[in-house]
Amino acid sequence: MLERLTELENKALAELEQAAGQADLKAWKVKYLGRSAELATITAGLRDLSKQERPAVGRRANEVKNAIEKAYEAHFESLRAETLDRSLREERLDVTLPGRSVSHGRVHPANQTLRQIYAIWAEMGFQVYLSREVESDEYNFALLNMPEHHPARDMWDTFHTTEPGVLLRTHTSPGQIHVMRERAPEPIRVILPGMCYRYEQITARSEIQFNQVEGLAVGRHITFADLKGTLNAFARRMFGQEVRTRFRAAHFPFTEPSAEMDIECFICSGEGCQVCKRTGWLEILGCGMVHPIVLHNGGYDPHVFSGFAFGMGTERIAMLKYGIEDIRYFWGNDLRFLEQF
Ligand code: DAH
Repeated sequence: MLERLTELENKALAELEQAAGQADLKAWKVKYLGRSAELATITAGLRDLSKQERPAVGRRANEVKNAIEKAYEAHFESLRAETLDRSLREERLDVTLPGRSVSHGRVHPANQTLRQIYAIWAEMGFQVYLSREVESDEYNFALLNMPEHHPARDMWDTFHTTEPGVLLRTHTSPGQIHVMRERAPEPIRVILPGMCYRYEQITARSEIQFNQVEGLAVGRHITFADLKGTLNAFARRMFGQEVRTRFRAAHFPFTEPSAEMDIECFICSGEGCQVCKRTGWLEILGCGMVHPIVLHNGGYDPHVFSGFAFGMGTERIAMLKYGIEDIRYFWGNDLRFLEQF
């Protein structure tokens, strides 16, 4: 038995030397120090030995156990140190290397302008009302006082769908009818922003898709003076307190009277330059008093209610504000353009 213990000790120590990693070490520990290891079996069998044999075998078994445990600890430590050493050597970081810069996304210039417009109208008590982009002929034209074959329809070249009477909205004005029919007879103060589509030649000044922001106020005592005052307040907030404005008579089927609002050219301060085509003025929106027929179509009695409306092109306003000379940049996805905002 004593010889067997010595053999066991030698074998255990020899195998321990070979253990090259944590996994080997673990297997070794189960084999020699585990609960069903031979050494444990010998210790458990001590009571079956004769009185003469028992003390010597017991002592020797203890010695062997202590010896291989100690060797195990030492080996474990040296393996750990070696691993640490290696990872320190191999995973060394050069903290003097310059970092890679993280690229940031940013809000698209059209959306930046939309947000500015929302904020200004919100301050004046106008809610944002989102209306549909796919419209019926009825809402886009007929209910806005342009029955079938009305010549004014030619002002909006239209994308029609294969479904008769269904089209992509050419302006945000049909949203007026939706809000009115939803809110009548309550007073209304809303803006209706969103994408519009026109079947047009794409040039530096016109795109087939663009954003508009429509505005609508309906109430019992709304006058043209309210329209002018409100739009002047908007222009000052959008383009600066000093900006001068003027209203020119115009025609839209859904307003009567109708006007277009110009702001003084801020490039040349009214002197006349290329941007304002030597007029000193820049057109920024169309507007007017809501036509009685449109009020009626929206569910309001035109003898009791009145209202004003306006519509502006978001990209056009951004172009004026930032001096962008070509509308095609907005949907060209060229980072050199987008990163300037
Ligand atoms: N819908 C017109 C357009 O697309 C713009 C416009 C003009 C809207 C006058 C209005 C308005 O609400 O009153 O050209």
